[in-house]
Amino acid sequence: MLKAEENERLTRVGPGTPAGELFRRYWQPAALASELPEADGAPIRLRLLGEDLVAFRATDGSIGIVDAFCPHRRAPMFFGCNEECGLRCVYHGWKFDTSGACVDMPSEPADSLFKTKVRIAAYPAFEAGGVIWIYMGPPELEPPKPDYEWMRAPATHRILSKTFEDANYLQGLEGGLDTSHSSFAHNERLGDRNWIRNRDGAPRLDVHKSEYGYSYVSTRDVGEDGLYVRVYHYVMPAQQMRGSVTSLMGGRAKTPKLDGHMWMPIDDEHTYVYNMAWSYSDDFPITPEYAHEWEAMNGRAEEDHIPGTFKLKKNLANDYQIDRARQKTQTFTGIVGINTQDYALQEGMGPICDRTKEHLGTSDKAIIATRQLLLEATDAVAAGEAPRGIDPGAYRNVRPYDDYVPRDAHWSDHFKGELLAKW
Ligand code: FES
Ligand SMILES: [Fe+2]
Repeated sequence: MLKAEENERLTRVGPGTPAGELFRRYWQPAALASELPEADGAPIRLRLLGEDLVAFRATDGSIGIVDAFCPHRRAPMFFGCNEECGLRCVYHGWKFDTSGACVDMPSEPADSLFKTKVRIAAYPAFEAGGVIWIYMGPPELEPPKPDYEWMRAPATHRILSKTFEDANYLQGLEGGLDTSHSSFAHNERLGDRNWIRNRDGAPRLDVHKSEYGYSYVSTRDVGEDGLYVRVYHYVMPAQQMRGSVTSLMGGRAKTPKLDGHMWMPIDDEHTYVYNMAWSYSDDFPITPEYAHEWEAMNGRAEEDHIPGTFKLKKNLANDYQIDRARQKTQTFTGIVGINTQDYALQEGMGPICDRTKEHLGTSDKAIIATRQLLLEATDAVAAGEAPRGIDPGAYRNVRPYDDYVPRDAHWSDHFKGELLAKW
């Protein structure tokens, strides 16, 4: 459990809040690159860390992310004209480049210097790995650009998607770092004792703190197959990477694929979840069919979305279309879709979970470590120090992994070579 003050400290993300200032020290995912497909195309609305913004791709392909409202008389920049390397407010024609400088002010006399004095608030942004990244912190503290193995994987070997979550980011992040729940919430075969997650619902967890956050090793005893060991990484402030357990299921051979999520707070009560999956073998490109199968299994394929949004059709308003008969006979939740199950549980806690009322057990070790690291990092930022995970050198070569391990072997020998980035 947390004290009320700690829960507040970790969950509020607006400007000036401890967690808000912490998130602002990192490059963060602002949008999928595919949301801005063409130069001079339509701008998009963004809300990030409680701030309303507008993003556009300029004529030269570079990305601008600016205040949602014009500094003249606060007209919405979303309706602006994206042309000739700038976004022009259509109320009185003021135009701003990607750095926020006013480059044209046609409503003032031609010899006026007023335009040199006006700027629109703008944040640095760039595109890499299929994602548009934004830095919203103090300019003098801008860190090196992010560099994860999944960003370096070729686009042909990667799946990237984005889902709206109707809850505070920490509920999502904690769910993503909680291996134990997968034996229950994601149990797809209630009656099958041989199903990997049914064979041991109480994994042992070893958490190893590191420069970027932590890694943890969960070990399940799976009877005649020995041990099932899964290595996760938590990269601060809100990214998880995990071995692709599902590749081991359904009678299919293990596929060379890893998974992860990033949770980006929209504001205190809403989150965008970025879903990454990447193949680490040249010989295993991710086909559109494979990508669709994977996304559909998670309940987030295109047909699962309310058209034109990142919101899912199965949501709290319809109880995630829970099937109580299915719940009695087939699965714990009676809800279809792995991430739909997650959202039912995480969003169902309410917009901000009251962690003063929890009772944490041994399987919550990773959750406890996450909170310790985040609290420690908010203290570090308040003291003017750099938080963990700012330096890409700390995480650029780490990767997760999972596999069966013979009972007489040590997992670290068995996984040797698999825990270093291949791209
Ligand atoms: S409000 Fe934007 S130019 Fe006047
Ligand atoms: Fe889950």
